Amino acid sequence: MARILITSALPYINGIKHLGNLIGSQLPADLYARYNRGRGNEVMFLCATDEHGTPAELAAAKANQPVADYCADMQKVQTDIANRFGLSFDHFGRSSSPQNHKLTQHFASKLADAGLITEVADRQVYSNADGRFLPDRYVEGTCPNCGYDGARGDQCEECTKQLDPTDLINPRSTISGSTDLEVRETKHLFLRQSAMRDQLDQWIDSKSDWPILTTSIAKKWLHDGDGLQDRGITRDLDWGVPVKKGDADWPGMEGKVFYVWFDAPIEYIACANEWAEANGKSDADWERWWRTDKGADDVKYVQFMGKDNVPFHTLSFPATILGSGEPWKLVDHLKSFNYLNYDGGQFSTSKGRGVFMDQALEILPADYWRWWLLSHAPESSDSEFTWENFQQSVNKDLADVLGNFVSRITKFCRSKFGEAIPEGGEYGEQEQALIAELTTRIRAYEGHMEAMEIRKSAQELRAIWVAGNEYLQSAAPWSTFKSDPEKAATQVRMGLNLIRLYAVLSAPFIPTATASMLSAMDTLNTSWPDDVAEALNALQVGHEFSVPEVLFAKITDDQREEWQQRFSGVRD
Ligand code: MF3
Ligand code: ZN
Repeated sequence: MARILITSALPYINGIKHLGNLIGSQLPADLYARYNRGRGNEVMFLCATDEHGTPAELAAAKANQPVADYCADMQKVQTDIANRFGLSFDHFGRSSSPQNHKLTQHFASKLADAGLITEVADRQVYSNADGRFLPDRYVEGTCPNCGYDGARGDQCEECTKQLDPTDLINPRSTISGSTDLEVRETKHLFLRQSAMRDQLDQWIDSKSDWPILTTSIAKKWLHDGDGLQDRGITRDLDWGVPVKKGDADWPGMEGKVFYVWFDAPIEYIACANEWAEANGKSDADWERWWRTDKGADDVKYVQFMGKDNVPFHTLSFPATILGSGEPWKLVDHLKSFNYLNYDGGQFSTSKGRGVFMDQALEILPADYWRWWLLSHAPESSDSEFTWENFQQSVNKDLADVLGNFVSRITKFCRSKFGEAIPEGGEYGEQEQALIAELTTRIRAYEGHMEAMEIRKSAQELRAIWVAGNEYLQSAAPWSTFKSDPEKAATQVRMGLNLIRLYAVLSAPFIPTATASMLSAMDTLNTSWPDDVAEALNALQVGHEFSVPEVLFAKITDDQREEWQQRFSGVRD
């Protein structure tokens, strides 16, 4: 049994995520977690809200709430939506937790001991109109690297380059819009990432199986010379992890907090500590996932994230871990995604454009969305959500191919033999051919899932559903029944067993529908089909079942048009 540690990029606390965010990290991470659990591996799947920094402060100000209250409320909202989308985290924590405060301060102290933190007089953008410093996202302007005019002070979303507010061309305050800005000096701590360039370079070179998207971004910022500039890890803000050296005060740093991108990835680790405390476990129970000296050396650690997050996970966070000199687990595989666009433009949280997670669930159950998003994951390039495409996938793949198969075979059996697997003979040639085809396809499906090739996995799964349909179509028990009822019974037994098999294989994609399929088949047997012939004999003659409710309803043209219309504007 393998042990798999999985983290999804931590969603910012500032509001409900849109479907582009969901497919960029949490949903594929969930797919992989569910698949591995299904294979009998031991999984620890962690996520949390990313609660510090300017995104949280700006959103709280907009909501007219103290930032701590805002975060507490939004964390509940995000937890609820994550549950309703079937995101099966072992723990959904908070980067503002006491555990993360402690661990962040611990890392800072280790890095300082290693000589990797320097104190510098830093130049920061100060707004005369707002009467304050404007760190990170408090400033927007034009990216000096690609010319995008909506770049934020911490990063350009367009080209992924990490920025400092002082890098922006034509900067403006996001609080007041004021351009009356000046650069003033203040003292900050810097992480000497540049001192770790060779170590990071070698580490990335050793990852030959990472997606090209991941390594190319990492290498770009590593060799451009820029990506590994020493970076400020403290800010003049109230909300955040207070700058301390372990438990001790840090002279000269009073009133400052760590930069959100310093403490957020550390929450991946602290989250396991939160999990342990929430579940009455010991330190050893979480450390065996994270400390290579305490059992984590045989853990495979996989991270999921959008491409804009890659520099922080391939350079900054590993610099923190390696620089600490302590035996923390480094990521083994980093799966990154391009962007999902929305109907001819971009999804945008700030502009409220696209479909957001709560809105999606108001119109259709999670499985419909999960299937579309996963089968169209933006892996090799950006992809686009359109209502036509969504309607087509749902109606064809889910309703026609899978849903129809289930309803046809269960209803046919009920009408001719009753609601139990009928007595019939051995599987014949046609069934053996199906078993052979499914064996090949299931092994291919496993290969794609293990490689985290999400679109390919979805395609193979669909082909597995199609194979069953084709079998049913050509075996045609409804005609066989007239001349050879016993043979028809055998075919029906195969069909009903296929439903159980499909439920097991499809559960990572569509967990709710597959749970209904298993409950209709009245079975708790979810064992993985290592041996397909055996799996297709799991439900035996006399085993009772029931006809499930319609699994997937088709999306009508009227519905499609109504939704397209409803989501064409912006959300307030
Ligand atoms: N909140 C960040 C984003 O949405 C991701 C943080 S990932 C972490 O882009 F590792 F830093 F937590
Ligand atoms: Zn740019």
